[in-house]
Amino acid sequence: EFSDSIKYATEKSEIIFICVNTPPKPTGEADLIYVEEVSKEIARNLSKFTLIVEKSTVPVETCERIKQVFEIYGKKGLYEIASNPEFLREGSAVYDFFNPDRIVIGVESKKAEKMLKNLYKKIKTTFVITDTKSAELIKHASNSFLALKISYANMLSRICDIVNADIKMVTYAMGLDKRISSEFLKAGIGFGGSCFPKDLMAFNFITKKLGLNFKIIEDTLEINNTQVDYFINKIKNKLWNLNRKKIAVWGLSFKPETDDVRNSQAIEFIKKIISEGAQVVAYDPKAIENAKKVLKESILYAKDKYTAVENAECLCLLTEWKEFINADFKKVKQLLQAPFIFDGRNVLNYKYLKKLGFYYEGIGIRCTS
Ligand code: UGA
Repeated sequence: EFSDSIKYATEKSEIIFICVNTPPKPTGEADLIYVEEVSKEIARNLSKFTLIVEKSTVPVETCERIKQVFEIYGKKGLYEIASNPEFLREGSAVYDFFNPDRIVIGVESKKAEKMLKNLYKKIKTTFVITDTKSAELIKHASNSFLALKISYANMLSRICDIVNADIKMVTYAMGLDKRISSEFLKAGIGFGGSCFPKDLMAFNFITKKLGLNFKIIEDTLEINNTQVDYFINKIKNKLWNLNRKKIAVWGLSFKPETDDVRNSQAIEFIKKIISEGAQVVAYDPKAIENAKKVLKESILYAKDKYTAVENAECLCLLTEWKEFINADFKKVKQLLQAPFIFDGRNVLNYKYLKKLGFYYEGIGIRCTS
């Protein structure tokens, strides 16, 4: 059932999830105004006991703040505040929902624990029952750790470039150690999306507020923020000036299987090279409409991947959509002005491409042409 009436939804519900946006302020701090406003509205409309579950990604101690709002605007005894962070990934959210690695429940009473466990009873997984602050921290800590792994791999990829080693072999072998795992160790142009960059900035902000300096988080962001430039320099080393050069781009979304371009490294890349005078023709299977809202007419949008490469001086792969990996590269070579491929996600078969006569460059890939 759908409703835009908070009053109606509150009256009809035993459990209410708060899933509103928590965007970053210019300082990186999470903006919690929507959480506060919706809490106030729910509190005002309570008429029976309701479990309020904080689902949005929020800094530690937000549930305490929500409680304060309920103490002011709600009636004592009619509410309890719980935390139940989500770990869904864009593009596989439904699968992730039914197959979670864990369900984290931060509660203050057995009653709330029972209500939430009952709600999720059909899902077979590990239930982590804890307090609200720990639950809130689990979310920020998890996302930051995943992002840290990516930046770690990206810094390693730069080392590989310098000494002519192979990042894929390095991270593959690292990942065989179960304590490390191969997940989120793929080097590339860096992480984007509406979660990692925002959550790391918010986590950094909150740790500073707590009087701590969690330098690793800052380093993770710093490596990520310079990875696109690092990639652009590779292109410049080969192509010399970017000014007036036609560059083909494959991929606009922040990762495959989504049309989301928020904080996409591909968009960052494009903005940077057009500021140097490059003429970009881009193609993405799903994200063109969203990219147009951001990049407007500053680039050309191709109707398919082959049209994008026509007469371009190089091809840059920025999002690892399957259709790019399986493209007909003989055809690509005929269409390009010069046979240069820069693989920002390390997904193409460079041995094959080199056999076809391409100059190939990935990030930390051992392959001299
Ligand atoms: C992320 C987390 O993975 C989810 O668990 C979490 O629930 C979600 O944020 C959230 O906080 O809501 P999501 O942003 O959908 O999910 O995307 P990821 O699949 O985590 O990828 C994030 C970025 O990291 C992408 O740009 C991807 O290309 C990049 N990435 C990922 C790498 O560069 N290398 C890797 O090895 C893995």
